[in-house]
Amino acid sequence: MILINDAATLDNDGATAVLTLHNPPVNALSRVLREGIAAGIEAAAADGAVEAIVMICEGRTFIAGADIKEFGKPIEGPSLRELEDIVESCPKPVIAALHGTALGGGLELALACHYRIAVPSARLGLPEIKLGLIPGAGGTQRLPRMIGLKRALDMIFTGAPVGAATAHTLGIIDELAAGDLRAEAVRFASDIVREGRPQRKISEEDGRLAGEDVEAAIEEARATHGRKMKGFDSFEKALEAIANAARLPFAEGMAREGEIFAELLAGAQSKAQRYVFGATRAAAKVPDMAADTPTRSVTTVGIIGAGTMGGGIAMNFLSAGIPVTIVEAKPEALERGTGIMRTNYEASAKRGRIRPEDVDRAMGLLSPSLDMADLADRDLIIEAAFEEMAVKKDIFARLDGIAKAGAILASNTSYLDIDDIAATTKRPEDVLGLHFFSPANVMKLLEVVRGEKTATDVVATAMKLGRDIGKTAVLVGVCHGFVGNRMLSARQREANKLILEGAMPWEVDRVLTDFGLPMGPFQMADLAGLDLGWNRETSKGETIREQLCEADRRGQKSGAGFYDYDDKRKASPSKLVEKMIRARSKADGIKRRQISDEEILERLIYPMINEGAKILDEGVALRASDIDVVWINGYGWPVYRGGPMFFADTIGPAVVLTTMRELEERMGADFKPAPLLVRIVEEGRNFTGAV
Ligand code: 3HC
Repeated sequence: MILINDAATLDNDGATAVLTLHNPPVNALSRVLREGIAAGIEAAAADGAVEAIVMICEGRTFIAGADIKEFGKPIEGPSLRELEDIVESCPKPVIAALHGTALGGGLELALACHYRIAVPSARLGLPEIKLGLIPGAGGTQRLPRMIGLKRALDMIFTGAPVGAATAHTLGIIDELAAGDLRAEAVRFASDIVREGRPQRKISEEDGRLAGEDVEAAIEEARATHGRKMKGFDSFEKALEAIANAARLPFAEGMAREGEIFAELLAGAQSKAQRYVFGATRAAAKVPDMAADTPTRSVTTVGIIGAGTMGGGIAMNFLSAGIPVTIVEAKPEALERGTGIMRTNYEASAKRGRIRPEDVDRAMGLLSPSLDMADLADRDLIIEAAFEEMAVKKDIFARLDGIAKAGAILASNTSYLDIDDIAATTKRPEDVLGLHFFSPANVMKLLEVVRGEKTATDVVATAMKLGRDIGKTAVLVGVCHGFVGNRMLSARQREANKLILEGAMPWEVDRVLTDFGLPMGPFQMADLAGLDLGWNRETSKGETIREQLCEADRRGQKSGAGFYDYDDKRKASPSKLVEKMIRARSKADGIKRRQISDEEILERLIYPMINEGAKILDEGVALRASDIDVVWINGYGWPVYRGGPMFFADTIGPAVVLTTMRELEERMGADFKPAPLLVRIVEEGRNFTGAV
């Protein structure tokens, strides 16, 4: 065995040289690995006893891509592209042996090899688009040459990896390894040599694309991926680069791919998206918890409340194969709730997101019940009942008498004080908040709310469980509305003021959708229902929202709210609402004025940032980046803007502070700058340290 460097070793197995790569945790293509590969291939090429070369990785995965931490720094050592040239032009066949995930630059390097073999569990993908990039080491040129434009466009735009079997069918993988990968790869290499198979160089294969209708493929990609990619600079760039595979000779296509990659890499969007990659991973780490912090076993779940939230929450566990008992007070509500869950599963099956048999499999794990006593043996019980403290306290007091010792008791409250709820039990250490976001079976965010007395192993269990059911769990502390809704309240307060001062709801919403959010505050209110928490008896008709409810405009579900809706739920501005708002302004003595888009945006976003600063100062969030992860995964904040705190850093905290001070002077205490905002500006720092 020859030690090439810290990341590569070479040993001969018969006439095959095996180049083994080792750069934990994910074998990213850092300088040391690139140097190891270059030197290893050259050494094997020079060795007269070697007829073929296998490239294989140690650890949990094949190469997972370029080293994200090296982005933006000058390239030292051989570049990935140079490495690919070395591999492709090697006079001896080079075979990539894949396991784990071959991603980004890892797959691109494998495509520059002459053959590829993979274990059946391997997954292959080009996820660069998720980092605001395009594949930059030949992925846009080699993959279409291999599998055609349409398939390549889909793989690059979803960024999602395909399994080895699919990759084999597509022709990306030449062989699936039945047994030990190294042994199979060496056997495959000697077959290639024995049979005298040619060294396949994808860069020389233009024929595959000769008959492709490039325009049609582009149009189809626009139709399939355009909506999801709205606002992303990388979309048009990726389309251009991939189409070039069919339009230009390889070398020219590569040159353009390189230019586009460099341009995107230097841009603000990719910077934000790479920050989010790190922020998401940071959120999983809790300072006072190590990887070996004990967790409680959760193999059964109980849910109280089969409404929209309870049902959606239940689906997360059922989909992950965890049995759920769901409890409701009334048989009709129970039947309606479980019926909706089935309908949702069936709709997913119809759209091809799950297999038809998964519907019954998931629903088969559900036990509907009208008796809370049926929750006695559950490991975790989540209360998703009406959002009222008295209701929650009553449920938790009863649960205390029912749940087994060691069961975790969680509330899905969106605002209320977890410590108050926990105090109704004799086991506050077992109580925490698990705040799911609507629709709970779809939205990725889970706020894990740690109460004053919540035990460490309960928090650790919740964070792990969140991951197990596919959520992005963020640890937050107790306060009214936690991280997400507390900041949302600040935005909503300003939105309500803006419509009385001169803007219309659709103008306010448009400013936010132009910014990249999926909807604005009034679209969101109409979707959620304006009568949430509204009571006809006690309604004073003092706010526009109350007036709308009294007029039976309760949002989308009643066909009208801030907007008018047609029978396909398409929204249009409402003349009636406009009149209502103007009358309200007049009654309140407000002289309406023209409000610029810029002011609307600042009024909506800066108070959110300010609230985020208070949240950080109070320790309700552990890190500024956690706040960003909340907003991206729970409220659709555009990932290419990195979250509200990152956004504050990109425009400069000093700019936010100056504007807040001006607004405070004009409009009062709602705009009083948070002490942390003032401090970081004074100290010349920013929130995330990432800009
Ligand atoms: N570069 C540097 N570090 C990376 C990395 C990369 N490409 N991929 C993962 N890591 C780090 C993570 O930051 C994390 O570090 P931490 O322990 O300090 O938090 C550690 O590796 C483990 O990662 P995960 O927690 O994500 O581990 P999982 O097992 O859950 O997932 C994975 C593994 C599927 C490989 C996942 O990490 C992943 O998707 N990585 C990103 C892959 C990617 O985007 N590759 C393309 C890069 S761009 C590129 O290749 C450009 C080229 O076209 C020129």
